Amino acid sequence: MGKIKLAILALGIFFSASSAYAASEVAFPEGWQKWNSISTTLTKIGALPGCDADVSTLPQIYQETVATYCGVRKGGPGKVAVLVNPAVKSAYAARTGKLADGPAMILHLKDMKVLFVTGYKGGKAQYGVYGEDGKDIAAASGPLNADTCRTCHTGYTSFCANGQCGKVSK
Ligand code: HEC
Repeated sequence: MGKIKLAILALGIFFSASSAYAASEVAFPEGWQKWNSISTTLTKIGALPGCDADVSTLPQIYQETVATYCGVRKGGPGKVAVLVNPAVKSAYAARTGKLADGPAMILHLKDMKVLFVTGYKGGKAQYGVYGEDGKDIAAASGPLNADTCRTCHTGYTSFCANGQCGKVSK
């Protein structure tokens, strides 16, 4: 094997090893299409707007959410839905932060065909990003990195209960 081929092979191993850190922490939510669609503050707004939208009247955490995601697509991420695993539907409504282990809830970016997934392991919130088709698209850094999710979902303690930031809105 030539030196260049070896270098490419080494690079490949390096990247596949480092991409382990980029993987979603929570499993793909099988059967998500049948999960319960919840009305929340954000789904009532209807969509995550683009970067030139005036969101100054929204709570700080929503402003930061728009700032983080408005640029992932021209015009913003677009239409959203919040889907909750039927097994944790009442726990979601109660907002105790005590959710059963496994994939629990989804922020569905409908126009982007992307699922932001929060799940639990040992009672601790974990994060993942998947295409609707199940492709793991969590990134090593930036807006689609699990640590980015965690920073916001745990940073607003008065807003989020153990990783759950939304609430049922009538
Ligand atoms: C800058 C803040 C911020 C970041 C970053 C963020 N979120 Fe959220 N997220 C929110 C807010 C606020 C809501 C509640 C929206 C609503 O009213 O439904 C939310 C809602 C959700 C929901 C619906 C369930 C719930 O918590 O009520 C999921 C699932 C979710 N986010 C997953 C993720 C994942 C996965 C990432 C990273 C890829 C992420 N979020 C990044 C702020 C953020």
